[in-house]
Amino acid sequence: MNTLVPRPASVTVPSLLQAKAEGRRLAMLTCYDATFAFAMDRAGVDLVLLGDSLGMVVQGHDSTLPVTVDHIVYHAAAVRRGLTRALLVADLPFLSYATPEQALGNARRLMAEGGAAMVKLEGAGMMLGVIEALTQRDVPVCAHLGLTPQSVMKLGGFKVQGREAEAARRLREEALAVQEAGADLLVLECVPRTLAAEITAALRIPTIGIGAGADCDGQVLVMHDVLGLRGRHRTPRFVKDFLAGADGIETAFAAYVAAVRDGTFPGREHGFD
Ligand code: KIV
Repeated sequence: MNTLVPRPASVTVPSLLQAKAEGRRLAMLTCYDATFAFAMDRAGVDLVLLGDSLGMVVQGHDSTLPVTVDHIVYHAAAVRRGLTRALLVADLPFLSYATPEQALGNARRLMAEGGAAMVKLEGAGMMLGVIEALTQRDVPVCAHLGLTPQSVMKLGGFKVQGREAEAARRLREEALAVQEAGADLLVLECVPRTLAAEITAALRIPTIGIGAGADCDGQVLVMHDVLGLRGRHRTPRFVKDFLAGADGIETAFAAYVAAVRDGTFPGREHGFD
């Protein structure tokens, strides 16, 4: 037996609410294959995300738009085989959840074929009906607001969201709305730290930040960024290389988990005003 850290009980959907109530921060990382999933699980990562960042960091595209449901199912199933404790969240890719019917069919594939315990989707507005349709049929949902990469063409690039008063007001309303629609978790990407803190305090469900400051209930990063791997895309300021100074990949993941749990990551330099 060869555990790096004591392994608490398996992470379940109800245990996420409990973590928020008890003030225990949640550590999430993206992952795309079984071997890295195994290392993350041993390092104590709570939530593993098969993100559609797959399209950029694994497939080499400039956006997440080319990722398909088949790609997500294939990689999710591999990741799931590496996990025993962490909860697997899988992204519904671009336009795979445009209607409740389409979302239900594709969520079934992510859970039944890919082994995901929760599906993630971007946006509020029209998506509220989709979140309701999924959660009313007991599909756990992680919502994703702020910088939503599937809207990159409409947003005109990967930019910080919610800086102006009107945009901040809309984001606060959307966060409450996705919670009311039944979402179990909310990823906030690239939003000013004070706005993310307000939203976190206003919600019953946990928030997971990426470029959203230290006051979220948890943090997520793309695995490649935690390992200091530089592709051809610009490195965002909210990432940190945890492999620098660690003696291996598993200890880098464990250092990330420890820093998220004790609130030392993200630092001020990783956030936005
Ligand atoms: O696809 C992804 O990896 C994500 C995270 C960056 C939150 O959505």
